[in-house]
Amino acid sequence: MDRRPLIAGNWKMHTTAQEAQQLAASVVKAANSVPDRDVMIAPPYTALAAVSATLAGTGVILGAQNVHWEEQGAFTGEISAPMLKELGCGMAIIGHSERRHVFGETDGMINKRIKGAMQFGLIPVFCIGETLEQREAEQTMQVLEAQVRSGLDAVDLTDGSRIVVAYEPVWAIGTGKTASESQAQEAHGFIRNLLENIYEKNIAAQIRILYGGSVKPENVDILMQQNDIDGALVGGAALKAEMFERIICFH
Ligand code: 13P
Repeated sequence: MDRRPLIAGNWKMHTTAQEAQQLAASVVKAANSVPDRDVMIAPPYTALAAVSATLAGTGVILGAQNVHWEEQGAFTGEISAPMLKELGCGMAIIGHSERRHVFGETDGMINKRIKGAMQFGLIPVFCIGETLEQREAEQTMQVLEAQVRSGLDAVDLTDGSRIVVAYEPVWAIGTGKTASESQAQEAHGFIRNLLENIYEKNIAAQIRILYGGSVKPENVDILMQQNDIDGALVGGAALKAEMFERIICFH
């Protein structure tokens, strides 16, 4: 099964609207040079409208960094899927480890966010990953299984391209420590098997599984050569135009 690669940039709490537009323009240029893959960027909410204008008419996908499950309501500080769709978003990152660990988001909330996003046609980029403590205690696969099963609880899928999973080991995020390609492939293979357990095999085979955690120009090529690694979710290096351009152009 050929899955179309997806290179995604998570800009976290960085960039003014103006900086975001400049960076987005460089992303468009790089993405145009490699039409065989998808590229997504997720600026902060405050820059979405500006970046949406820069991306209009290009193939680069606009993403949000989170999304609420309700369409509207008394949820101070939250943003809904229809609001994001109105700005041109096609995807939303959900369950990022910073949301889980810094803001206390639970598997239950993440499951609701995934369902809310899908109900309105936004593709979730559903993040999972173990902490260093969990890896050292050899609980990695158990943790990943629990996160996948609860995040996807009662999430019906007839088309595996409607959701993306991102494996981001917490110990590799922003630390400069990348999982080795074999560590990453081991986790991705495990996640693929799990998805085959939950969904039909042909649907599981369509689901893209991204790797995230200190992805950079130096390691993207070898990571992308692994069977079950279908893309990258990039933090720090996505904020540097030249580095992200090189990552988009992985080979
Ligand atoms: P870094 O690429 O900075 O390690 O961040 C990864 C990440 O959290 C992407 O969502």
